[in-house]
Formats: sequence, C-alpha cells, structure tokens
Amino acid sequence: MLTGNEIRQKFIEFFESKKHKHFESASLIPDDPTLLLTVAGMVPFKPYFLGQKEAPCPRVTTYQKCIRTNDLENVGRTARHHTFFEMLGNFSFGDYFKKEAIVWSWEFITEVLKLDKEKLWISVFESDDEAEQIWMEECNFPKERIVRLGASENWWAAGPTGSCGPSSEIHVDLGVAYGGDENSKLGDEGTDNRFIEIWNLVFTEWNRMEDGSLQPLPKKNIDTGAGLERVAAMVQGKSNNFETDLLFPLVEAAGKLTSTTYGDTPEKDFSLKVITDHARAITFLINDGVIPSNEGRGYVLRRILRRAVRHGRLLGTKDLFMYKMVDEVVELMAIAYPELRENLEHIKKVVKIEEEKFSNTLDQGIQLVTNEIEEAKKRGENKLSGDVTFKLYDTYGFPYELTEEICEEMGIEVCKDEFVSKMEEQRAKARAARTVVMEKGQDSFIEEFYDKHGKTEFDGYEIVAEEGKLLHVRNIEDNKYALIFDRTPFYAEAGGQEADHGTIEGNGVFGKVIDVQKQKEIYTHTVIIENGEDNLNEGAMFNLAIDTTRRSEIAKNHTATHLLHEALREVLGSHVQQAGSAVSADRLRFDFNHYEGLTEKELEEVERIVNTEIANALPVSIENMTMDEAKAKGATALFGDKYGNSVRVVSVGDFSMELCGGTHIDNISKVGLFKIISEAGVAAGVRRIEAQTGFRAYETVVGTDKLVKKVSKTLKTDVNKLDERSEKLMDEMKDLNKELEALKAKIATFEANSLFENVEEINGVKVLVQDFKDKDANSLREIVDKAKDKLGSCVIALGADNDKAIFAIGVTKDLTGKVKAGDLVREAAKIAGGNGGGRPDFAQAGGKDGAKVKEALEAIKTILVENLK
Ligand code: ALA
Repeated sequence: MLTGNEIRQKFIEFFESKKHKHFESASLIPDDPTLLLTVAGMVPFKPYFLGQKEAPCPRVTTYQKCIRTNDLENVGRTARHHTFFEMLGNFSFGDYFKKEAIVWSWEFITEVLKLDKEKLWISVFESDDEAEQIWMEECNFPKERIVRLGASENWWAAGPTGSCGPSSEIHVDLGVAYGGDENSKLGDEGTDNRFIEIWNLVFTEWNRMEDGSLQPLPKKNIDTGAGLERVAAMVQGKSNNFETDLLFPLVEAAGKLTSTTYGDTPEKDFSLKVITDHARAITFLINDGVIPSNEGRGYVLRRILRRAVRHGRLLGTKDLFMYKMVDEVVELMAIAYPELRENLEHIKKVVKIEEEKFSNTLDQGIQLVTNEIEEAKKRGENKLSGDVTFKLYDTYGFPYELTEEICEEMGIEVCKDEFVSKMEEQRAKARAARTVVMEKGQDSFIEEFYDKHGKTEFDGYEIVAEEGKLLHVRNIEDNKYALIFDRTPFYAEAGGQEADHGTIEGNGVFGKVIDVQKQKEIYTHTVIIENGEDNLNEGAMFNLAIDTTRRSEIAKNHTATHLLHEALREVLGSHVQQAGSAVSADRLRFDFNHYEGLTEKELEEVERIVNTEIANALPVSIENMTMDEAKAKGATALFGDKYGNSVRVVSVGDFSMELCGGTHIDNISKVGLFKIISEAGVAAGVRRIEAQTGFRAYETVVGTDKLVKKVSKTLKTDVNKLDERSEKLMDEMKDLNKELEALKAKIATFEANSLFENVEEINGVKVLVQDFKDKDANSLREIVDKAKDKLGSCVIALGADNDKAIFAIGVTKDLTGKVKAGDLVREAAKIAGGNGGGRPDFAQAGGKDGAKVKEALEAIKTILVENLK
C-alpha cells in the first residue's frame, strides 16, 4: 500500500516521465492582488493561462500547498473538508490538451495507484462529447459509468472573471453503505458521501470577461488538480481523510495533548479533527510569513487558530497545546517541505504568543458571557441581546459560536439576527469609510492632463539638473505654486523615500521646490516663488536643479535601509518582511513583521552586520529586468506591491537584492556609519527600527561620547571605569539610604518620648499643657492622639503660635465628666482673639493673636486645677 509521501512522489515522477518540469510549491501568499490565499495548484500560473506572460516551459507538474476557508464550519465535522490541503497537478500551457490529460490521468490511477477500475466513475460537462469520446475510445471506459453534469459540477474557474473551462472529474464509488442503492449513479441525490471526487481535469480554453461573456483564450490549456488527502484515503482504503497516514499521526498527537482518545465520541472526534486540520494550516501560513492580525490573511490565521484553541477547551484542555502541534506537523511534513524545519522555532513562537493571548481572552470571555447571562436572567429575560454578543465578538475577539454554545448550556437564547445586523452595520461603516478615501484619491485633473500631455519624463536617476518646459501653473496660496514640467530631475515621494528639494530658475523667476508628488506619472512640484511670480508662463523653459547634498543624504539612508532589511532577515529569520519605510535626509525608519521586541543582542548583531558590509565597501548596482528574471535571481519584492513588466533591481554586492524605484548611492561605503537609534512596536506583530547614517550617526555617537565624558568627570573617574564606579555608587547609595532610614526611625522614637517630658499630675490625673511653638494644626492633633495612646487616662492641651494661635485639646472619655475639651478650647480661643468649640473628647480652635498662646494655656491650667479637684 502506498504511503501519502509515496503518492506525492510518484505523481511528480509520473508527470516528469511525460516531459513535465517539476516546480516547487508556491507560497500560500499568492503573487496576485485579487486573491487572499493560494486556493488551487493553478494559482501561480494564472498569467500563463491568460497569455499575459510567456510560460517558462509548456508542461509543469506540482504538488501545491493550498488553503480554502469558505467552508470553515464544516472542517472537522466531515470526512473530507480541510482548510489546508495539498493539490497534485499537471499543467499544459498551450501544449497538450484533452486527450493526453485524460489518458495520463487514467494511466496514473490504474497503473500507478492501481485503484479498482470497476469502482471508478467519470463525469463530463453536459455538452462535452469530445471528453466522453476520449474516455470510451482511448481508455475503454464503459459508457454506463460516465455521466454528464451541468456547470455547477463540471465547469471550473478560479474567480468570477478570468480563465476557465469545462472539466471532467474522476470519482471513486465507496458502495451502498455510503448512500443510494444498487442502481444509484454518480450525481444522484443522497450519494455525496458515496461517490468521492478525486481528480478534476479542467480544459482551460476560455476567458470570462467582466460582462460575463466568454472569449477564447489565445491557447488551449490543461489544469488538473487531485487532492492528495482524498487520493491517499482511496488508495489506503480509508473512508475518512483523517485516518490516512498523512493526517492520523496528528490526530493521535492531538489526542495525547488533550488526553482524548480518537473514536470515543463523535463530538470528541470532531474536535480532534479540527485541531489536526488547523495545526497544518497554521504552521504553513506562518511558515509563509503570515502573522495573526485583524485583517486579511492575518485574520484568517487568527480565526483558524482560535477555533482550534476553543476545540482544545471543549476537550477539557486548559494548557497551551497548539504550539506543540507545530512540532508534529513539521516532523510529519518536512520531508515534502524542508523549509518548515528552518522556521520551526519562529512558527512555534508565533503560535504560542497568540495562543496565550487567546487563552486569556477565552477565560475572560467565558466569565463575561456567564455574567451577562445571569444579569439577563435576573431581569427576567430569556435572551442575550445582539449588543452583548457583538461586543464580545468585537471588543474581546470572542467567537460568536462560542457565545451561542455557552448560552445553550445555560438555557438562554441568542439573538443571532441582532448580532448579524450589528455586523452588517459595522461593515457598512467600514465600506463608507473606504468610499470616502477612494473619492478623495480621484483627481480628474490629472487624468485630463495625462491625456493631453502624457507622462512627465523623470530623468533624476541619471542627472541632477536639466531644463524643463513649464506646462501647468496653479497658485496654492500666497507665493506657493503647484508646477508641472514636461520633464524633471526631481524624485517624487514614493516607496517611503521623501521627495527631492531644490530650485527652479529662469525668466527672472527663482523658486524653491519644497515637495514633489506624482500621480499617474505626472510630477507636481510644490514651489515657493521668491522672485518673478509674474513671469511664471506656461510654455517657458526653466532650469530645474535638485539639492544634491540632500539627495545624497537620502540615498545613503535608502541604501542602508536595504542592508538593514537583509541583516534583520539574517538575524531574526526569513519571515521578516518590510511593512513600511520612511527615508529622509536625517534618518531612516523601517517597519517589519516580527512577533516580539528585539533583544539588545539582536540589535547589536544587526548593527554589526550592516557596519561590516559598509566596511566591505560593497558596490551598489542597479539593473532593469523582467519580473521573472528578478525572481529567478532571488530578489526581494514586497507582496502586494504592483510592479510593471520591467522592474528595477537594486543590489548591494551579493548581500542584498531588492526591487526598488528609489535613488541610491553607488557604493555602500559612502554610508560611513550606521547607528540604530530606537526599536519599538507599532502594531500587533509589527516592529519599527529608526536609524541614522553617515555624519548624523557620527554626531549621535559624538553626543553620547561627550555625555559619557561629562558624567565621568562628575563621578571623578576614568571613562573606562565608569561602569564600575556607577555600580559602586549605587551600592553605596543603597547602604546610605538604609542607614538614613534607621536614623530617622530612631529620631522619631526619641522625639515621641521627649514630647511627654512635661507631663504632670493634678490630683492623680495626667495632664500635659504645652506650647509647641510653631507646629501646625495637623501635628498638634497627631500629638494629642499619640499622647492619649501612651498616657491612657489624661488631659492634653496643646498650643502653637503659627502666625495665628492654634489649639488642640484632648480629654480621654473617662474624664469628660469633669472637664470637656470643647469648653477648654473655647476659653483658650477667647483669650487669643478667636472663638471655637468641639466635642467633649477632642476640640480644635484658633485665634488671631499668636502671642497670646502662653497666656491662654496658663488659663487652661488654672481651670484644670479647679475642675480636677
Ligand atoms: N484548478 C482545478 C481545481 O482546483 C483543478 O479543482
């Protein structure tokens, strides 16, 4: 019995023997702005089918990694749904057609895979006589087992427009146990689980236009696809893809990690299959550079990962487990995709971080839902509103189905309609926001201008000054103008590089260019006119000259950015991709995908690599070539960026090669010095490095050096002993602080004790009457409290001359029958020119006359002697 790996290998070998060239599996991230993910083997070849590009060879075979998410809810529930799967394919670009495609598929299935001929069924498109003929005549296939089906079954297209064509599919009949009866035919109702499609042969000869009509393609092509997992299931006699050797080790690993046994209950099997399938998708997505986020591919990844984690919870697992599944996937699949091994640690880390984050959310969310449900029940409601479910989804990233599930368990309904309408509302808002942006971006003037004059010739790669004819003048405000010339040496802001600055001169006009923008290859210069505004005549010639110092500073930073990009890939891994950049004269900024902050060591390493290459004085070369040539040479390009047929490739020695339209220096040694200034996160999974080059970097280093010297001087030590000295000082300071604290404590105790030196006894009652000179009211109150604690039964009468007179008097409760704090304070205040009163046990008051404190306290003493008799 053939293993899955053997089937994959035999397929490729078989088609190689038919003169096909084996192409490596392309990335899951297609080089195609209309597609989010690679969904079929033909995706990388779309331009060849459409005749937009010459195919490098006429026959190709691949095993292609694919992801489809249109049926996510069903993945795990059924025997054959997957997100990630492998598609075996053979392709003809205008070479062989129907006959060979059919005959070879038949040969492979019956002679290599040795599937039972009697169990095979064929479908052809309803009007495709030719295909039926070939099956019968060339393969001796019995007419009774050929069925003709409509477009929903036997017509294939990658999208609403583009290449497409009728198809013929090969199916295996699993027998009556899986539906229908003795007389059932392929395509009959209720036989979906019985007749399993294993290979789709598409005769791609049409191009679907925008208006829905079909145009013949320049050449007739073949595109076939056989799902490896299904084929393996048929070859290995399994009715369920997950039980083939391609997937079962993962099912078992998932079982181990979640302490679950496959085959126990259908619910548990469902969860194990979800984890198995999703582990492959997650591993391969991250391997191809996707990072979890809330948009596009990143969201697909996040959704799949969250679904898998939830199923782990359903199996009762609270521990992180998905990142451990990555090990298993890589172990199993590195034989066909060896690059997985290189990226293993990166993939695991990304999964672990995201898994951790979601595990917290999950627990929090479960708590939140539970609370909301209880609240709703308290209010006597039996429904959870759409507001709540939407908030859980939108704010906490809590999957709707999970809310639904918990509600079900707790016997409460969810208003799905409300949730759905909230979602629509949000989508509509997002759509509206997008429309506004689009409208702003439209500039009919530029369209018209382009139609009339064609594009602006940009000569700035070769020269720094030239004569240009003024074609358009528009006043912006005061002496600020927008000017368009027929040609220009000014680089317009693009690809993160700032525009050139410079001057325009001629006809008595002098102006400074402060910005240049291009739209549809029309360069608009923003110019401050310092002289001769009246002579800005359309049709006149002007000398246009860029500021070459600024240009060369920008160029240094731009070329250095390429080095930085490559150095980051070396240090952090090949998943690093540019996510944005800003190159100006005084610094460079580079954003890239990475899941965590860089360590000091990594930053040092990156900086060291860049400076080493600068010291190596690598030459910078710039070449124009076709996109295919650039790719073949291994140039780095930004996914999703649009490049024309001819691309500009900037190489720094053998170190870096990037597609780029910017201006660069001719030798990297001109950068002089490269210094990283900062590293920080700017969004989930995106880091930003800011750096300086050349003289600016030198100035930064000099500044630091000066600072270090100054600090050494202050600390009275050599620069090279600064480290030691500052550590020692910090230690000393710690010791001193400790000592200081101890001393303070001692003083406090001492003070507290000395406070009560003047306590006297009147008739056996402890009495403290004291003038505390300049203490404030709060301190007096504190002393009263302390004295009561310390002395027990007592009378405390305190005063202070704090500009004004203040008094605080305390009487312990056992004595308030004899003397009341309120009465005493009133007497004292009266003497000091104020009034007041208070509770019997505590009272505070003040008076204007600070000098009378002494007299007032004496009066109190007299009253006390009287009252305590
Ligand atoms: N492109 C065809 C499919 O995906 C073969 O089914």
